[in-house]
Amino acid sequence: MSDGQIAAPRTSEFEIFLVAVPGLGGPLCAEARAHGFTAKTVSGGVTIKGGWPEVWRANLELRGPSRILARIDQFRVVHLAKLDTRARQVPWSTILRRDVPVRIEASCKSSRIYHSGAAAQRIARAIQEELGAPISNDADVAIKARIENDICTIAVDTSGEPLHKRGHKEAVAKAPMRETMAALFLRQCGYTGSEPVLDPMCGSGTFVIEAAEIAAGLKPGRSRTFAFEKLATFDAATWDAMRTAGTTQTPTHRFYGRDRDSGAIRMSRANAERAGVSAFTEFAETSVQELTAPDGPSGLVIVNPPYGDRLGETNKLRPLYRALGHTLMTRFPGWRVGLVTSDDNLANATGLPFSLTAEPVLHGGLRIKLYRTAALP
Ligand SMILES: C[S@@+](CC[C@H](N)C(=O)[O-])C[C@H]1O[C@@H](n2cnc3c(N)ncnc32)[C@H](O)[C@@H]1O
Repeated sequence: MSDGQIAAPRTSEFEIFLVAVPGLGGPLCAEARAHGFTAKTVSGGVTIKGGWPEVWRANLELRGPSRILARIDQFRVVHLAKLDTRARQVPWSTILRRDVPVRIEASCKSSRIYHSGAAAQRIARAIQEELGAPISNDADVAIKARIENDICTIAVDTSGEPLHKRGHKEAVAKAPMRETMAALFLRQCGYTGSEPVLDPMCGSGTFVIEAAEIAAGLKPGRSRTFAFEKLATFDAATWDAMRTAGTTQTPTHRFYGRDRDSGAIRMSRANAERAGVSAFTEFAETSVQELTAPDGPSGLVIVNPPYGDRLGETNKLRPLYRALGHTLMTRFPGWRVGLVTSDDNLANATGLPFSLTAEPVLHGGLRIKLYRTAALP
């Protein structure tokens, strides 16, 4: 490659970038490694190496990435005229289809090219004139061009819809946890699929359904479509074989969701049904004050209680956190607890013996943290 610094897919391997929620790069890297990828944590996410089959498999099997980008070219560029010429040498026809619309998103940082709109326009023109594919702001296929320190990286967004949209959840509670984050918080709590999980404030059931799917060996991307299906590199037969390969199992444990809100419980049941896990999930309307541990072995309690971002709201929530802590300390011996909240004082109000706190995670403008205990006495 003339100016390039990474291999373009003319060769069979290139860099695949797994976008991470800020603060969750570490557990995402661990997840990718557990799935057999050679993964490295970098700023903003995790990189793995591979070809298109690895792109498909990562989208299908990994629970943690927000989206997955295939880095198809990289070159140094210091002015727009050079970008105009160099963008025409990207192997567009091996990656994009002439009949599929595409949109361009460009960003510039610490570079002599600083006008992202002008950069996007040069790349759009190169695609239109070299390949003939239509350019449209509503296109499902997106090319992301990032110019940083005068190096332009061209990537295709292979996911399309963000990956937390697994394709089963129609009903969503107020402030739902994203599935991608829920899966990585479960992983950080040491959950591997071999113990019961209970969420005492389950909302739309995200933690419970993710935990049940993991235990059943269900692939997170099994029910949805991806942008990579619209690329020239797509092979439907290989993809179908990959999607249906492997076995699922009926978990030996149960997965429990509780909430004081009847609407939340209805939503959770409907979401579990669509995800195909209703046979081993149980949802019931109960407040944390009345909650008792289910019969059978202990496991993991994981919860994100309501959290406020203003002092007044935080103070009002203290009694709820205190009640949650009291219930768990008195009625859940042997269970570990993972609690996600935005405020150390609220976490402390539970009185739970947190020994482990993970790195803060940026979510919806808030810094939230996972607090973890060992098995409760
Ligand atoms: C932030 S939401 C949880 C969102 C959930 N993790 C999801 O992904 O949809 C908090 C939930 O706590 C529930 N809740 C509030 N007070 C409660 C109480 N005293 N007992 C049980 N649930 C309660 C609310 O109804 C709400 O569904």
